[in-house]
Amino acid sequence: MPDGYRILFLAGGAMHQFAMVPANLATPGGTVAYADSGYWAQRAMAEAARQHQVCVVARHEGTQALAAPPLQGWQLPPGSAYCHITPNETVEGIAYPGLPDVGDVPLVADCTSSCLTAPLPIARFGLVYAGAQKNLGIAGLAVVVIQEALLARSSASLASVASYRLQAQAASCVNTPPVAALLVTAMVLDWIDAQGGLPAMAEANQRKAATLYCAIDASQGFFCAPVALGHRSLVNVRFCCANAALDTVFATEAEAAGLHHLRGHPRIGGLRASLYNAMPQAGVDALVDFMAHFQRRYG
Ligand SMILES: Cc1ncc(COP(=O)(O)O)c(C=O)c1O
Repeated sequence: MPDGYRILFLAGGAMHQFAMVPANLATPGGTVAYADSGYWAQRAMAEAARQHQVCVVARHEGTQALAAPPLQGWQLPPGSAYCHITPNETVEGIAYPGLPDVGDVPLVADCTSSCLTAPLPIARFGLVYAGAQKNLGIAGLAVVVIQEALLARSSASLASVASYRLQAQAASCVNTPPVAALLVTAMVLDWIDAQGGLPAMAEANQRKAATLYCAIDASQGFFCAPVALGHRSLVNVRFCCANAALDTVFATEAEAAGLHHLRGHPRIGGLRASLYNAMPQAGVDALVDFMAHFQRRYG
């Protein structure tokens, strides 16, 4: 992390930050810019829209394969307090291939599902936040990395537990912190260091994702990945059977074979494998073996 940033460890989840980001960085009724990349971006926007003018500056318009919003041509309205992105959309399995240029406007990112899966260029962001439960530990804790200069924006009228400025002054201890969740996060960070840090995490995640996407793409159309090449998430691999009726059979038989949580999000169906840091290569290899076995029987 470069100089000039603070890390806050706050109680609650990423959705608390959906509310705290606009409350701290913008004035009530002020304008905030959001890129609409999918389910979680929309939920973040809905929360900001309770008290602010939300301007959608980018979204994917194509009817073909799913993709992140295009990175060029974002027109931020004058006076935008910040611009918010969701670098990895957990539900759709979509990841941005890069970062947008938003000029002097602070870029804010919800990194809940991508945090610590690869190195992140923090200096490009005004604020990054993540709920802990995917790659950092257990639910109940959110981590916020904020540029020090932005702390001055927290209004004196905010509740003290919800003020980034007061939380930074109190070393995240305005009230009793969620100590068990913090302890687990400390252990996870030690584990990541012992594996070789974020470069090692990135390498392992790339290998796992490549194993699974290759198996899908090599299945001669039996399995399909709906997300465009270059926009596919490393950690939330979305796929389906070309014969949609087989998705439920696949998930049920996979469950019986010890491969859990492969049903897609209820909003979009299909199948999804989440390959967060804690998933070993052996888990992906077992899934790919099961897929080949399944295709032999139903293909
Ligand atoms: C990208 C993203 N943002 C926000 C959330 C919501 O997190 P929480 O349940 O910690 O509020 C999730 C949860 O899956 C997520 O994946």
